[in-house]
Amino acid sequence: MAIKLTWLGHATWSIETDSGVILLDPFLNDNPSATAKADEVKADLILVSHGHGDHISDAAEIANRIGVDIITNYEIAGWLEKNQGVKSTIGMNIGGSVQTKFGKIKMTPALHSSGLPDGAYGGCPAGFVLTLPDAGGEVTIYFACDTGLFSDMGLIGDSGIDVAVLPIGDLFTMGVEDSVAATNLINPNIVLPSHYNTWPPIEQNAEQWSERIRSKTKAKPEVLSPGETFTI
Ligand code: NI
Ligand code: MN
Repeated sequence: MAIKLTWLGHATWSIETDSGVILLDPFLNDNPSATAKADEVKADLILVSHGHGDHISDAAEIANRIGVDIITNYEIAGWLEKNQGVKSTIGMNIGGSVQTKFGKIKMTPALHSSGLPDGAYGGCPAGFVLTLPDAGGEVTIYFACDTGLFSDMGLIGDSGIDVAVLPIGDLFTMGVEDSVAATNLINPNIVLPSHYNTWPPIEQNAEQWSERIRSKTKAKPEVLSPGETFTI
């Protein structure tokens, strides 16, 4: 089966593989652009990039409903277990990777912050590189998550990225111009925008973004609407 990426709105992604569904940064019930509620989504594994509410707010509810692991940084993993009743977490840190039944998950740096909703320390914000087995080979997907532009994205790109998912909303993360520069550092075949059009302060014109990607990079832009799926 091909790998299917579904944008659930804002920075929430569902990654469907042969082995099950990975859910990234679940923020659904209070997300004005989400097309599903937390009690409707499937997950066999949850990833959380950092502690902000627009990435973590539904993680515990979904994990507890289905009984699945949450992979996140060490500090957030402890907070989820202690404060949110999550039974099983895998805490990691920047540069580390973990082998799961879905494939390899590596935690990458992100230039951002990570305070938890109650003010607790949320460790370092992160992105993820997923190396997922696919018919006859593997697919590598880089979720930059919430971050500004940083030149070490070039090192992440050197590992061979097929698909990159980048924030473009500006204000809290990279905006359009820096996402074009990031695409040139990462050099993926395909790039998808994330973390925009949820609220007026992060509104962007996805068509103009696509044009910039097409004219300034070698990557192919793929713009989804919330709820839409891209098959890799
Ligand atoms: Ni954030
Ligand atoms: Mn965010």
